[in-house]
Formats: sequence, structure tokens, C-alpha cells
Amino acid sequence: MLLLIKLTSLVTTMARKFFVGGNWKCNGTMDDVKKLVKTLNEVEVPSEDVVEVVVSPPFVFLPLVKALLRSDFAIAAQNCWVRKGGAFTGEISAEMLVNLGIPWVILGHSERRSLLGESNDFVADKVGYALSQGLKVIACVGETLEQREAGSTMDVVAAQTKAIAEKITYWTNVVLAYEPVWAIGTGKVATPAQAQEVHVGLREWLNTNVSAEVASSTRIIYGGSVNAANCRELAEQADIDGFLVGGASLKPEFVEIIKSATVKSSV
Ligand code: PGA
Repeated sequence: MLLLIKLTSLVTTMARKFFVGGNWKCNGTMDDVKKLVKTLNEVEVPSEDVVEVVVSPPFVFLPLVKALLRSDFAIAAQNCWVRKGGAFTGEISAEMLVNLGIPWVILGHSERRSLLGESNDFVADKVGYALSQGLKVIACVGETLEQREAGSTMDVVAAQTKAIAEKITYWTNVVLAYEPVWAIGTGKVATPAQAQEVHVGLREWLNTNVSAEVASSTRIIYGGSVNAANCRELAEQADIDGFLVGGASLKPEFVEIIKSATVKSSV
């Protein structure tokens, strides 16, 4: 019986391929981007069977990165418009990303939620529309420090996830990124136990409100001050299936974060 349980949990873990996203945010010049891509192209990382790597440059550099980046790494945009393109000055549509051959998009990042006022429903509509156009989505959720201190972390991330769940019918192309707002860009990383607790909570939420299959197969990744020094300990947590990395994705240490995927494959 014990062996069976062990085997089952191993199969479940293996089914969720480790995912490392690099969110470059609003950084860099053409030269910086070329240098960063050159570095990434030269590094040795675990095989595609072990880890899926997706980098997310600013919109204007997407074609450049697509032309230069190694073929075993994929690309994500950092946002897209909520529905079909048209008279929406300054926006980039999901169709345009598809047209450029960009497979992924990050949606609901806390910087957009807080600085640009994107609500749970708006983010959820974006996720639904992007999926309907064939994009894969890194959907971000996370609580602020005040919400954590008030004890409402799970309520907040559940409400953000619920809004998304109401707008989509399949989760195959969704990676859920748990990114506590207080940990983003602050150098204040969640402890492995804090992150694992929320990841388990999210998986339970999916199990209860979507399906057991979606709960066990959806990758839930952690973001917020992940770096070379803390990634392995976080990766050891059973329900942490990878990372969304901001600051450290612009530095050589990103490769160490990618390599932390081997923590899972050697379980
Ligand atoms: P950080 O950002 O790694 O710089 O904290 C993470 C993110 O915003 O995705």
C-alpha cells in the first residue's frame, strides 16, 4: 500500500514538468537583450524532458528574441489585450502574438493588477480570450502583505483563481503562478513552508472546484525573489512545480534556477 502511494505521488509529480519562467519586465536595450540571449544560448541546462524554460522579454524585443533564442527555450509576452484587436491604442492582441509565433503570455501579474488596476474579472477575461486563441497562459495570483497579515491569503488567491476558473473550460495550457506581492522584487522570499502551504491550498481549491485531474496536472509555480541561493530548497517542496523569476532572470544565476529542476527528477 505504502509503495503504491509512493508510486502514485511519483507519477503525479513526474506528470508536472518543472517550469521556469524568466520575466524580464520593462528592462533592457537591444544590446542588453542580445547579450542576455547569447548567454542563455550558451548555457548547459537539463533536457527538455526535465524542465520547460520560457523567457518573457518586453513586447518590442519579441521578434528579436524569437530570431536569436535557442529552440529548446520558449517565449512569453508579458500581457495581451482582453479580446480581439481593433481600436485599442497601445494594446497588443493575442492574435498578434499568435501571428508572431509567440506561444505563451503572462497574465494577471501583480504589477499590472496593482499599478494598472486590472481586476480579477478583467484578468480572467484575458486568460479566457488568450486560451481561445491558442496561447498558453502563465496566470498570476498572490496576496499583498496587508492581506497576509490579516490572514486572508487563501481567500485572496482563491478568489483570483475562481474568477479564472469561471472563464475557462480547460486547464491544459495554464500554468498558475503564485506570487506573493510582498515577495516580488523585494528580496524577501516566501519560506519554502509558506509557499508550499499556499500551493497545497490552491491545489485543493482546484480539486474541489474544478476537478481532481486538473488539480493533479496543473503546474503551480512560485514567484517572488527567487534566486540561485534559495531555488533548490523551494524546488524540494512537493507542490512547487517551478518558478517565475524576475530580477534574477536577467542575471547569469538564472541558469542555476533552471538547474534546480533536477531536484525533482532525482526524487
Ligand atoms: P522577482 O519578480 O523575482 O524580481 O521578485 C518575480 C515576478 O515579478 O515575476
